[in-house]
Amino acid sequence: MDSSLYEQVGGEAFFVRLVDAFYVGVEGDEILRSMYPEDLTESKRHLVLFLMQYWGGPSTYMQERGHPRLRMRHAPFHINKRARDAWLVAMNNALDRERDEITAEQFDELRAYFDMVAHQLRNV
Ligand code: HEM
Repeated sequence: MDSSLYEQVGGEAFFVRLVDAFYVGVEGDEILRSMYPEDLTESKRHLVLFLMQYWGGPSTYMQERGHPRLRMRHAPFHINKRARDAWLVAMNNALDRERDEITAEQFDELRAYFDMVAHQLRNV
């Protein structure tokens, strides 16, 4: 049986690195920074747990946060094209840093996934 992408890319450590780098991008972007709380600790943790679960790792996210319902959870935020693009820039930069750690297929799969969900979450 094929192992999950979660396992293939190195498990939790990969997603922690990815999300840490993503939030460096958030901190450097005015539009994004203003949308997130001052203390990013929990924001980071939730994104790590969500991604781990989505890609076949432990379902801690579900236990702690319940069903993801991402569109509903993003409804309070004004996600226009600029905000969506800024989010994708931050995530794509983070992913670029991992390019040598994962295969081209995994890279493309992750990139396409973020692109798709970010487009779905635009709400303005
Ligand atoms: C399109 C641009 C996006 C913007 C502007 C955005 C913004 C935000 C903000 C402001 C929060 C709240 C953080 C907090 O309260 O701690 C959040 C939470 C979250 N976002 Fe996004 N987001 C975007 C796209 C995405 C995408 C593409 C994903 C997944 C692939 C995602 C996954 C999550 C998750 C899992 C949470 C935590 C939900 C929870 O409370 O459990 N977001 N996002």
